[in-house]
Amino acid sequence: MRMDKDICKVMFNEVELQGVCKRLGEQITKDYEGKDLLIVGILNGAIVFVTDLMRQIDRQINIDFMSVSSYGNGTTSSGNIHVAKDLNSDIAGRNVLIVEDILDTGNTLHQLTNMLKERNPASLKVCVLLDKPARREQEIYADYVGYTIPDAFVVGYGLDYAEEYRNLPYIGVLSPSVYSHE
Ligand code: IMP
Ligand code: MG
Repeated sequence: MRMDKDICKVMFNEVELQGVCKRLGEQITKDYEGKDLLIVGILNGAIVFVTDLMRQIDRQINIDFMSVSSYGNGTTSSGNIHVAKDLNSDIAGRNVLIVEDILDTGNTLHQLTNMLKERNPASLKVCVLLDKPARREQEIYADYVGYTIPDAFVVGYGLDYAEEYRNLPYIGVLSPSVYSHE
């Protein structure tokens, strides 16, 4: 699926994205040696990333999903998250790795990690494909980061704008002309 270059400029292509999943998967494989691992994919943005990443982890893992949304306008989250779908598993005593598409203001992951810590996991770590530190509002760091990116609005490979573009096989920078009218 190709888009007009003026609307969406490629930032990371399919080969680069596979490479980053391999690198992160190898690191996670090492770090969780001898430990059980429950991957928590955050819907909808992490769908593509988590399915590629999990196939690069050479360990027995379990996977579960949560659907959270942060209230806010189209391109910025707010301080409140709404859990639309909670986990099926009890995470008490488990080694949990949250897999998320992007860390932006940090509001979503800040609240989510606080919520999950209260359920007493053995450990709780965060893996994000993209980190956009320029807009951070919360003191939060991811344990695994695919790429650190500048302050641009990106779509594709699971990431959306207004629920569109998730199926682009690459990550592209969306032209502000698409969302500046909101
Ligand atoms: P945060 O709460 O501001 O850290 O943002 C987290 C959520 O905002 C992510 O899970 C994404 O759904 C969305 N988001 C932030 N930046 C982008 C972007 O550049 N493109 C698409 N979605 C984004
Ligand atoms: Mg989103």
